Amino acid sequence: MSNLEKKNEYTGYRGFGSFMMEESVEELVYKADTNEYIEPEYPLFSLKPETIFLSLNSSINTNNNNNNNILFGHTFGKNNFFLDDTWVFINHGAFGATCRIAMEASRRWREYAEMQPLKFIDRELFIQLVRTQYHVSKLLHTRVADIAILPNATYGLNVAIKASNLQAGEVAIMLDIGYGSVKKILGEACILSGARLILISVQFPIETAQDIVKQVKDILSTIKEPIGLCVFDHITSNSALVLPVKELVTLSRTFGARHVLIDGAHGIASQELDIPSFGADWYISNAHKWLCSTKGVAIMHVSGENIRKCTRSIIISHGYGSGFSSEFSWDGCRDYSGALALTPLLYWWNSVGGLARARTYCTSLLQEAISLLTKRWSTKTHGPLNMYGTMACIELPSRNIPKGPTNSAHAKAIQDRLYAEYKIEVPIKVLPASGTIAGAENLRLYVRISAATYNELDDYEKLANAICSMQWDE
Ligand SMILES: Cc1ncc(COP(=O)(O)O)c(C=O)c1O
Repeated sequence: MSNLEKKNEYTGYRGFGSFMMEESVEELVYKADTNEYIEPEYPLFSLKPETIFLSLNSSINTNNNNNNNILFGHTFGKNNFFLDDTWVFINHGAFGATCRIAMEASRRWREYAEMQPLKFIDRELFIQLVRTQYHVSKLLHTRVADIAILPNATYGLNVAIKASNLQAGEVAIMLDIGYGSVKKILGEACILSGARLILISVQFPIETAQDIVKQVKDILSTIKEPIGLCVFDHITSNSALVLPVKELVTLSRTFGARHVLIDGAHGIASQELDIPSFGADWYISNAHKWLCSTKGVAIMHVSGENIRKCTRSIIISHGYGSGFSSEFSWDGCRDYSGALALTPLLYWWNSVGGLARARTYCTSLLQEAISLLTKRWSTKTHGPLNMYGTMACIELPSRNIPKGPTNSAHAKAIQDRLYAEYKIEVPIKVLPASGTIAGAENLRLYVRISAATYNELDDYEKLANAICSMQWDE
């Protein structure tokens, strides 16, 4: 006789669709926010984070409890990442780089799933996903119920902008230094709703983060219509600036913004995050950038029950109508292994001394690299040093770049040469040294460098030399 027959409890389907869960996803996530939560067993010993960690042939001395001795840099990179060391890879900011434990854990979950696909998907997947959310919530200081694991930041940004439910007669605000595709998502939402899009043109040079706050305040104070939504990047992609998001959220609320969304695509791991403290309605971050997960993993945070209720999935599947966690836990059959690999990934970061220690390495290395490049090229950074975290933009020396008015063709030509002749992967950006992007007369070329745990100063030395050796036909 089965357990169910013994208990004489034929409860029917507890969750959505025909998944064979004993508790619904909503019950699971709410329980995970209480002291009652007990992590589920791992279905196989080989799926346990510590087993995966130990089985990887890394340089890490696991008998040593003081992992603060582990050295970051090239050897660390060789042991823990897949990067081809014939390249100088200083563009982590673009798409991150997946570390070995995330890839291995993901592979193991994928193989496990295929041992009995129905057992895994019907009965185990959601329980294991809630465990992942539980661990992520501890990192980000959030409730388990307030986060969803999504395939990428773009997905979450679409969801949040739709959930803001812009209305005709309202305005939607974004900075012109915000991410290109988000301007498109917001622009489309404005067209559909009849709201007016205001792109605030940030004036450069910026001396301090307060300059941005003041510029935003000056514009907000001129707006007559109600503000439906303000969108701010936590870390801007092209210009690499870490924006004072907490202050920008507070400012937006002061001017009556109905909703505030933070595009924190670069946020997790590159910044210490206490997401609820920002006060935004949504914070969205990729895990595949600075947390080094496998590609296709992002986190969306919603601030509490009201935003949880109005944030609906743009993909309608079985969980639709059953609650926030249900809608976002299943958007059709796909590979969830990257999300399940987050727990071993966090375990690994702790084992190498913790994310804070890794961040200290990256931010110090970045400042050293800035110093090296600005001295070698006799140029300046685009923004103030204290607005950079793990990425920065440094002006290229005019003697080593194509002559004539600055344009994106020149940027591409330099980036292509660094790639093809020097095997250096780094983006070249066209940014305003003064004025705004719209005022093209003050544009300059900058290199956007990233500093990750696998980089060393020598990487930037190679970049310095490569640029210094570049000649261009008149
Ligand atoms: C600021 C910002 N927002 C959004 C995105 C989109 O991220 P994804 O392509 O992973 O969805 C990026 C990607 O680089 C970004 O830098």
